[in-house]
Amino acid sequence: MSQLIAEHVSKTYDGARGPVHALSEVSVRIGQGDFVVALGASGCGKSTLLSLLAGFQTPSSGRVSVDGVAVTGPGSDRGVVFQDDALFPWLTVLDNAAFGLTLRGIPSQQRRERAKEMLALVGLSAFAQHRINEISGGMRQRVGLARALTANPFFLLLDEPLGALDALTREQMQTLILDIWQKSGTGMFLITHSIEEAVMMSTELLIFSPRPGRIVSRHYFDFARRYAAGESARSIKQDPAFSQARSLILEHIIAQTEAV
Ligand SMILES: Nc1ncnc2c1ncn2[C@@H]1O[C@H](COP(=O)(O)OP(=O)(O)O)[C@@H](O)[C@H]1O
Ligand SMILES: [Mg+2]
Repeated sequence: MSQLIAEHVSKTYDGARGPVHALSEVSVRIGQGDFVVALGASGCGKSTLLSLLAGFQTPSSGRVSVDGVAVTGPGSDRGVVFQDDALFPWLTVLDNAAFGLTLRGIPSQQRRERAKEMLALVGLSAFAQHRINEISGGMRQRVGLARALTANPFFLLLDEPLGALDALTREQMQTLILDIWQKSGTGMFLITHSIEEAVMMSTELLIFSPRPGRIVSRHYFDFARRYAAGESARSIKQDPAFSQARSLILEHIIAQTEAV
């Protein structure tokens, strides 16, 4: 089982008006099968942490590693999905999904087979030949997920992938991502602004606070595992334990805002 680890990671940017301490002494451990969710106001360094985990940037201090090997750049062991996923509008859904493997020199037939499997996983088999501008926002996010999954990553890093979706589509995407997590055994790192989403999906929930961005508390929940074990999302959300967890997290978030 692979582990993606950040140890005492800090990041300072050279801002136009002096240094910006985006992250301070953040440690996080994402094992395959874990679902780590980052929650917090804008500007508390969540995307910075994700980019360090992805290897898009390097920390100013501290270390990011996979199974003890330092991360020095992006790798096929880590898939990334953003809110506005950069899909190619002139390519079909299938070709977009297969694109994740194009750069790796994998033969085209193999690429398409793998992409088809992933489109089936995200429920888009019927749309394989559609162009991106012919499908909805929720479907585009599913193409982004399929593309990230074609390389068979050990970890998926998701930066507010559901932020732009309407409420109903968002709930459907939440359970789809949980299904993918359960089937693939991937280690997940998800950034969200939604308390309900964070509580429902996390095995470990990290609450961030700004200036400098840091983790102020960690909470461990079993709702995602209950869903993975077969309980319906509706039944979980109706459990009083779920509302209690939501209230607890809300109180922590309010305490954070008041402390700033
Ligand atoms: N490339 C950059 N250069 C300078 N400052 C940056 C850069 N990227 C992010 N920041 C700053 O770092 C802080 C954290 O940003 P970010 O990680 O995007 O937070 P979040 O995702 O939680 O909203 C913010 O103050 C932001 O303005
Ligand atoms: Mg962000």
